[in-house]
Amino acid sequence: MTRAAAPGKIILLGEHAVVYGRPAIAVPVRQVQAVVDVEELPDGRRDDVLIDSPTMGLRAWLSEMGADDPLSQITRRTLEAVEGLAGRSISVRIDSTIPIASGLGSGAAVSVAVARGLSRHLGRPLDAQAVSELAFEVEKLHHGTPSGIDNTVIAFDRPVYFVRGSKPETLSVGAAVHLVIADTGRAASTAVAVAHVRRRWEADRTGVERVFDDIAHLVRRARSRLEAGEPEGLGLLMNENQTHLEWLGVSSPELDRLVLASRDSGAYGAKLSGGGMGGHMIAIVPEAAAPAVAQALQAAGATHVITTRVDP
Ligand code: MEV
Repeated sequence: MTRAAAPGKIILLGEHAVVYGRPAIAVPVRQVQAVVDVEELPDGRRDDVLIDSPTMGLRAWLSEMGADDPLSQITRRTLEAVEGLAGRSISVRIDSTIPIASGLGSGAAVSVAVARGLSRHLGRPLDAQAVSELAFEVEKLHHGTPSGIDNTVIAFDRPVYFVRGSKPETLSVGAAVHLVIADTGRAASTAVAVAHVRRRWEADRTGVERVFDDIAHLVRRARSRLEAGEPEGLGLLMNENQTHLEWLGVSSPELDRLVLASRDSGAYGAKLSGGGMGGHMIAIVPEAAAPAVAQALQAAGATHVITTRVDP
């Protein structure tokens, strides 16, 4: 059996603007992950793959799955890239602890874990860049115009400074950054949020482009703070980024409530993370304040809270 895993992710700053060519910073979150087990099936169908995902309620042979299903797409694309299935029958089992439609990159993580597990099992392990590129193609099914940040940070499993179309830069973090991540409990589709921003942009290109430029400026300053190990300054920049995201219309009452609760209980700063309109928010906190912030978030209605750190 071959096992492969991929982490979840959060975007520290720059979501949405990143779709329009501005930079963004994202980090992996290893407390949640997608895990894939690949096994030979001695009595299974030849030249076929049994895809088994109890969390998604799916068990089907690849040959019978629609081409637009994300799991079938990543499996087919990986098989095309590595070959080696001829005459064999294998199963791909997918388990994930990453909540779906919540801004933690569940779709990209599943794709990365499948491409990694399958390519390793077939004896042609793909590197991070190749895995990221395959997952990017599948991201297009989830929402039409992905920037590529989710598949990149998850495949490289490192903090990244990302600009669409450029080679991703991995970031060196100056000092540990402590984060509390909370789920609003409201599922939110990235596709819907991206389409909302697109309509806003079409209605007022000058105004929205100006906001994207302001966000880009925050992201560049945040990179320096992260590299210099100054979490407090990073928190203030995240607060400013949240104001822009609210203006773009991708926050929600639940997100606003959790953002305020974390700031009031000792966080340096807080914002939504990912597409928004629900899903997760993140707070950057002094290490000692993490338990109080986590408690305040739960009291304010968070359905799930994760405390994590980004290490130098
Ligand atoms: C989703 O995690 C981040 C967005 O900026 C979309 C994208 O970059 O593809 C909202």
